[in-house]
Amino acid sequence: MLTLNHQFDLIRQSATVGMNDRVLELKANGRKIISLQVGDPDFATPPSVMDVALQAMKDGQTHYGPSRGFLDLRRAVATKLLRDEGLTYDPQSEILITHGGIHAYYTAMQSILNPGDDVLIPDPSWATHANMVIMLRGNVIRVPAPAENGFIPFFESWEKALTPRTRVIVLNYPSNPTGAFPAREYLEKLQDFAASNNLWIVSDEVYGSLYYDGEKPTSAAAIDEAKPRTLIVNSLSKAYAMTGWRVGYLAAPAQVIENALKAGQNSITCVAPFIQKAAAFALTDPTIQQFTEQMRSAYAHRRELVLRIAREMESDKVLVTPPMGAFYFFLDFRPLRMTSSEICERILEEAGVALVPGPAFGEQGEGFARMAITASDEDVEAGFRKILEWVKRQ
Ligand SMILES: Cc1ncc(COP(=O)(O)O)c(C=O)c1O
Repeated sequence: MLTLNHQFDLIRQSATVGMNDRVLELKANGRKIISLQVGDPDFATPPSVMDVALQAMKDGQTHYGPSRGFLDLRRAVATKLLRDEGLTYDPQSEILITHGGIHAYYTAMQSILNPGDDVLIPDPSWATHANMVIMLRGNVIRVPAPAENGFIPFFESWEKALTPRTRVIVLNYPSNPTGAFPAREYLEKLQDFAASNNLWIVSDEVYGSLYYDGEKPTSAAAIDEAKPRTLIVNSLSKAYAMTGWRVGYLAAPAQVIENALKAGQNSITCVAPFIQKAAAFALTDPTIQQFTEQMRSAYAHRRELVLRIAREMESDKVLVTPPMGAFYFFLDFRPLRMTSSEICERILEEAGVALVPGPAFGEQGEGFARMAITASDEDVEAGFRKILEWVKRQ
């Protein structure tokens, strides 16, 4: 009998994709649905970035390129890491250009994980963080990040979760789905914990440029002496509205990058050269950094809009925590005493608004739903009002 890879029996289909399919089906039947389920900026990629890609194509950048990434792009990444995080990386040996953040995470995990290794991952967290570990035959140990502690694990929970086989901690701050990120002191303590237990830290920082209320998240590698044990995963998707371009990077110690390079060479060969040229421009051009700032202000405005409506239509059946970063609200519907999938299904059917059920991000997400503010102000306002009106009817 032909057999399949059993690891995939342990992974569920993406709930976000599932919800997208449902929305498309309803829209095809003529229903008007407000889509607040997708983590994709509603802004267009800046035209000047497109011009660079087009020009590069015309200049013949349409063949294989260097699998590590062009040196000018790796230099641009190093410039960004120094400019935004105060970190020094050697573009020759410590940076790999990847097919988006997801591929940076893939090559990171491929490079360091052995079958049977335990990996600590906060719950809730983006589903791929755990799924990738499972695909690579590692064991996932979830560390609760409860709403009651601002969606950050209590420090003791890390200690409790540690096993003799633990090799890696995965962090994602600001977090998808909660937007939370810890204070620098917390990261210092966690890096100490990692050092004393010989653990890698894989830090997914794709939302690093999206933070509110003035407080900027600290990169996990920016803690003293943390760089040799930290792998930074990042991409241009969220920061520059470039999700469809599929370009990101891994910044890590040279011996990790050597493995990651082999993983990249044997999975994608290289990132399309004309895309690499556009990415180098996006990371360094000053007007594009202003564009990122404008997007951040637009999300901040929508975030305020949601908080104002929450105050205005006050309900004790849904708790609305202001996200510290990223572009999601993790709405707490636990007072309704229904499952997240029931809540999301009914909000979709009865209020015409699409959300993602919290358990898509782990067990701790039961009773919650993720609402993205990656839609127009009008849609965010109308959608959130409809959600609260629906809640009032329960
Ligand atoms: C936490 C997190 N990391 C990584 C990614 C992947 O981003 P990309 O592969 O588009 O760079 C996403 C996408 O939603 C995400 O939410």
